[in-house]
Amino acid sequence: MSTVYCTATSLDGYIADDEESLSWLFATSGEAEPAGYTPTEPDPTLPDLHFDRFYSGVGSIVCGVNTFEWVRRDLTKDGQPFVWPYSLPSWVVTHRDLDPVDGVEFFAGDIGDLHPLLVEAADGGDVWIVGGGDLAGQFADRGLVDRVWIHQCPVVLGSGRPLLPRRLRLHRRKLETHGQFTAMLFDVVGPEPRITT
Ligand SMILES: NC(=O)c1ccc[n+]([C@@H]2O[C@H](COP(=O)([O-])OP(=O)(O)OC[C@H]3O[C@@H](n4cnc5c(N)ncnc54)[C@H](OP(=O)(O)O)[C@@H]3O)[C@@H](O)[C@H]2O)c1
Repeated sequence: MSTVYCTATSLDGYIADDEESLSWLFATSGEAEPAGYTPTEPDPTLPDLHFDRFYSGVGSIVCGVNTFEWVRRDLTKDGQPFVWPYSLPSWVVTHRDLDPVDGVEFFAGDIGDLHPLLVEAADGGDVWIVGGGDLAGQFADRGLVDRVWIHQCPVVLGSGRPLLPRRLRLHRRKLETHGQFTAMLFDVVGPEPRITT
């Protein structure tokens, strides 16, 4: 069982642009290489880092309210009723007084108090921190993020919602390319000290 922050990011470290759009993410091909591009041979010793593989090991889910509202907007944009898309135990952190949603628990407060609930609900599976970045940072501040698993897109946005606004040392464990995505799995080592040189 691990607690994993798994997300897609731009090359310059944003998980959403200034207008909370993910168009840049959906415009990135995960399937095919562009015409004329010769991919490097995959390394057979590396297990694959496809999102489906990650998700199959997930036991519980946590995200911030802006991510939740993005999902709600996206799934209701054609007038459909909102149904939370994950069947796994899910928590949304917020100070807002939102109407109940089937399959979602709301939580406000210290992430250190939420983590044991996530672990218990995961029942031996992984805890997936969906985002945003500061929420992942709140877990990291308490030493509660084991791994960071990112799918990096070859796009720079210049500004937006940050990937993980903390000083943290990571140790890269695996790297793969999926079409235009670079998938990377890191262990979290710990806070990165500030050393004046
Ligand atoms: N690229 C990707 O794969 C990916 C992944 C995830 C998200 N996203 C995108 O990133 C954007 C959202 O990221 P974000 O950084 O803006 O925020 P977020 O983490 O989704 O939401 C942040 C908000 O959550 C609430 N919150 C955070 N910690 C809390 C705590 N401990 N207790 C109670 N409430 C707490 C606060 O809102 P209140 O105080 O107002 O309640 C805070 O402003 C969305 O556009 C989403 O689509 C992209």
